Amino acid sequence: MSTESLNPLVNAQKQIKAACDLLGLDPAVYEMLKEPMRVLEVSIPVRMDDGSLRVFKGWRSQHNDALGPTKGGIRFHQNVNLDEVKALSMWMTFKCGVLGLPYGGGKGGVCVDPTKLSKRELEQLSRGYIRAIATIVGPELDIPAPDVGTNAEIMAWMVDEYSKIKGYNSFGVITGKPLILGGSKGRTDATGYGVALTAREGAKRLGMDFNKCTVALQGFGNVGSYSGLYLHRLGGKVIAVTDVFGGIYNKDGIDIEKLMEHVKKTGSVVNFPGTTSINNEQLLSLDVDILALCALENQITADNADTIKAKMIVEGANGPVTPEADKILDSKGIFVCPDILTNAGGVMVSYFEWVQNLTNLYWSEEEVKQRQEEGMVEAFKAVYDLAQQYKVNMRTAAYMISIKRVYEAMKARGWV
Ligand SMILES: NC(=O)c1ccc[n+]([C@@H]2O[C@H](COP(=O)([O-])OP(=O)(O)OC[C@H]3O[C@@H](n4cnc5c(N)ncnc54)[C@H](O)[C@@H]3O)[C@@H](O)[C@H]2O)c1
Repeated sequence: MSTESLNPLVNAQKQIKAACDLLGLDPAVYEMLKEPMRVLEVSIPVRMDDGSLRVFKGWRSQHNDALGPTKGGIRFHQNVNLDEVKALSMWMTFKCGVLGLPYGGGKGGVCVDPTKLSKRELEQLSRGYIRAIATIVGPELDIPAPDVGTNAEIMAWMVDEYSKIKGYNSFGVITGKPLILGGSKGRTDATGYGVALTAREGAKRLGMDFNKCTVALQGFGNVGSYSGLYLHRLGGKVIAVTDVFGGIYNKDGIDIEKLMEHVKKTGSVVNFPGTTSINNEQLLSLDVDILALCALENQITADNADTIKAKMIVEGANGPVTPEADKILDSKGIFVCPDILTNAGGVMVSYFEWVQNLTNLYWSEEEVKQRQEEGMVEAFKAVYDLAQQYKVNMRTAAYMISIKRVYEAMKARGWV
């Protein structure tokens, strides 16, 4: 076992430091970016169905608002902790920066296993959380969205609770809402669509014919399932999928639409007809063209990076490759499309949703998809070109672009 840090905050700080140094920025810039500008810790009491009272711990972190209001999802997971929420909010700053969105980074989380709560308990927790952070969120202040363990229904409860506090409907406070409450067409599948677009652009640069590319897919939740669907629709062949319960393999390809139906019925990819079983470790080391990491952080570390055989990795999840593993993948010539670029489709369409809420003018699905494709292809090109120019990997180039933007905004404001 290596002794590398798996603390996402430490890893995010390393990534920022590397880019600040390459850009030759004043050390004060790193000092400003290495921690969030504001973090709120809250305790949320919930009356459980059995009559007992449980208190859940939650956080909201606002990393940097030089470019605009902070923006980022809310995670409900039993491993959520302060450092994770801080790191995720930092990644959001740089994700928005790399796409040129007028936002800074935020993130929220509650330490809870949402699958263990009844629907009523989950609603009480969701409403309690947004009440607890209501003073620091708002359409012009900080705009949450779904992340792991949360969804459009939870966003609907939260927007309702926030609107009650304000005394008027405030749809622009949260994105990822149901369509009927001001959600955007094309939001649910936006992150996965962006992952597939990024893979397509990466394959082009590597001279690979996308129609002949094989794909291994880790994670089959919101990001993973739609990544799989669009990777398949754009021409790739998904031959293996894992989730937290296990995995499936078929060298001739897996029908992703049917797999989505299977998961809806059974709750897992396991036992999908026509496939053999595979575990997570085996999936990661498959000899495929594209490895799509769409589960959680720290999946490729110094301990298993050497076993990776894929030609390209697309990071649908946040932080799935550690900095130590990055070095090993670099030395093996594996092309890594970093999270802040690859999974930015979600925040991009969240931005479209917010714009629609603020203008009360709603767009067609085609318009959303077209704008997303244009934005992501342009961002990919900028990152790729900079990586070639500076002879750095895609992650460093992505950080350089976004840190430069954040730095210029801070400088224009007179902060640095
Ligand atoms: N939802 C979004 O729009 C969005 C946007 C950007 C980034 N992300 C990031 O993408 C990742 C996934 O988010 P999501 O919304 O799809 O969450 P989700 O809860 O819908 O899905 C997570 C998936 O990962 C699987 N998983 C968990 N642990 C695993 C393991 N050890 N091995 C294999 N599979 C495992 C789960 O079974 C599930 O299929 C997270 O890192 C999240 O921060 C999400």
